[in-house]
Amino acid sequence: MPRVAYVNGRYVDHRDAVVHVEDRGYQFADGVYEVVHLFRGRLIDEAAHLDRLDRSLRELEMDWPLGRQALQVVMHEVVRRNRFATGLVYIQVTRGVAPRDHKFPHDVPSSLVMTVRAIPEFPDDMREHGVGVITIADIRWARRDIKTISLLPNVLGKQAAAQAQAYEAWMYDHDGFVTEGTSSNAWIITTKGTLVTRPSGNDILQGITRQAILKFAEELDIPFEARKFSRDEAYNAREAFLSNSSHFVTPVTSIDDRVIANGKPGSVSVTLHQRYLKFMAESCKIA
Ligand code: PDD
Repeated sequence: MPRVAYVNGRYVDHRDAVVHVEDRGYQFADGVYEVVHLFRGRLIDEAAHLDRLDRSLRELEMDWPLGRQALQVVMHEVVRRNRFATGLVYIQVTRGVAPRDHKFPHDVPSSLVMTVRAIPEFPDDMREHGVGVITIADIRWARRDIKTISLLPNVLGKQAAAQAQAYEAWMYDHDGFVTEGTSSNAWIITTKGTLVTRPSGNDILQGITRQAILKFAEELDIPFEARKFSRDEAYNAREAFLSNSSHFVTPVTSIDDRVIANGKPGSVSVTLHQRYLKFMAESCKIA
């Protein structure tokens, strides 16, 4: 069955899904994006993703390409046409097509592209054994709270991780405190059993999965602190995990080749993962 993409008003065969060479996303990375998990036919935390898209657009003074409801209709239509039960929906909005000039163009509509990619439900291996991360200096710009398509430092970081046979790279700031992963938020559980992640602000992306985890931690009475943690604290943590819309709560069992605790996924990470799965299953029931 052919894959279908949406490009500026048209549903097209994925192989023919192209944008103009003067799209500002292509020339300036002048755009924003979202990745939404499609689980058994349902879009997980759809409203929260659209709220964040709205915020990213506003922060960059970019217009919605369509009204919010119309964009939702397109999302569901792209999903329907692709007939995947489980996958990732990619939404990208750029400042449109205009002759190359750094300044914002006038009266140019934003561009909208959507694709869906099938993914397997749960990589059991990641769940059972956890993943390894490396740490690298965070060389990104100062507005990491905006989900922009300008991802070169993230690309380089993920490649460095892959070359080190790790799954993710955690980035650290000038003072050695972990900011986040190249495509995920970073968490530890301290030796005292406290869940810790960096507070939201301009230096990290406020993950939608992160927001859900914070809610579940409260519900489950897991002690929590929003504060910075250093690489050293992470090396000596009782547990560590990362979160994102693709893989929810993924246990981290080694950091820079240092084994975390006994090298197995920790109980808090597993509990939060299970809670997240329950939330996804519930989303399918009520939607
Ligand atoms: N990335 N931090 C960064 C830098 C990210 O790119 C992401 C998500 C997250 C987690 O956000 P969320 O929980 O909303 O997925 C944190 C997506 C999955 C990506 O770029 O593919």
